[in-house]
Amino acid sequence: MDFEGKVVLITGAAGGIGKETARLFAKQGAKLSLVDMDAQVLESLVMELELEDYLLQTADVTNEEQVKDFVQQTKVKYGKIDVFFNNAGIEGKVASIIETTAEDLDKVLNVNIKGVFYGLKHVMATMMEQKFGSIINTSSITGLKGSPGLAPYSASKHAVLGLTKTAAIESAGMGIRVNAICPGYVETRMMQAIEQGRGPEHVNAMRERALSKVPMNRYAQSHEIAELVLFLASDKASYITGSHYVIDGGNLS
Ligand SMILES: NC(=O)c1ccc[n+]([C@@H]2O[C@H](COP(=O)([O-])OP(=O)(O)OC[C@H]3O[C@@H](n4cnc5c(N)ncnc54)[C@H](O)[C@@H]3O)[C@@H](O)[C@H]2O)c1
Repeated sequence: MDFEGKVVLITGAAGGIGKETARLFAKQGAKLSLVDMDAQVLESLVMELELEDYLLQTADVTNEEQVKDFVQQTKVKYGKIDVFFNNAGIEGKVASIIETTAEDLDKVLNVNIKGVFYGLKHVMATMMEQKFGSIINTSSITGLKGSPGLAPYSASKHAVLGLTKTAAIESAGMGIRVNAICPGYVETRMMQAIEQGRGPEHVNAMRERALSKVPMNRYAQSHEIAELVLFLASDKASYITGSHYVIDGGNLS
C-alpha cells in the first residue's frame, strides 16, 4: 500500500498500537501528524524513524480546544488530512461495577467517548471541505461483548461503534469513509495494566484466563493491528464504511 504524500493524523501515537501504526505509515511514505500527552515518546519515535517532515503535538483529547488546535495545525502545515487514526484510549481501573466510582467512570468516558467524538467532529469538518478522507476509530472486542472488571471501558468501546456508524452515514456522500477496529488482546502497556489490575499476584492467572479464550493462544503484536489500520485507510478499502473489523486471534469465534 502506497501512502506517498498522504497526510496521516494519529492520536495515542506514543502508545503501543499508535507507535507501530506510525512506523508502518512512515515506511509507506506518509507524512505524519502525531498526537499524544507523552511528548518524550513522540520525540524518540521520530528520531528512530529519521523523519524530516513531521508534526508532533502534545494534547489531551478530552479538551475540545486542544483537539481543534491539533487538527488545525495539521491543516496549516500540510493543507489536508487524508487519514485519521482516532486511537487514544485508556483502560481505567479494573473493578466490578459496584466497586467503580463516578469519578472512575467519568475518567474513562471522557477519553474514550468524548475524546473520540471531538476528534471525529473536527477532522470530519476538514474532510468534508476537502471531500475525501478515511477515519479509523479504535474500539475493541469489549465493544462487542461484556468485560467483567472493565465496565466503563466496555461501555466506552460500545459507544465508539455507535459513533463510527453515525459518522459514516453523515459523511458517506462526501467521499469520507469511517470504520472501526476491534482488537482482542494486544501486547502493549494497556494489556499489562489490565493484567496487573487485580494485583501483581494475579498477573499469571489473568494472562492464562485471557489466553484460554484465544484459539490462536497468543496476544496480538501491535504491528498486526497496524496492518489492518493501513488496509482500512487505503484505497483498497474504497467500498468499506460504517463497518467494524474484529482482529482477535479467534477470541469471539
Ligand atoms: N492493548 C489492547 O489489548 C487493546 C485491545 C483493544 C483495543 N485497544 C485500544 O487501542 C488503543 C491504543 O491502546 P494501546 O494498547 O496502544 O495502549 P497504550 O496505553 O500503549 O496507548 C494509549 C496511548 O493513548 C494516550 N492517551 C491516553 N489518554 C490520552 C488523552 N487524554 N489524550 C491524548 N492521548 C492520550 C497515552 O498516552 C498512550 O500513549 C486504545 O484505544 C485501546 O483502548 C487496546
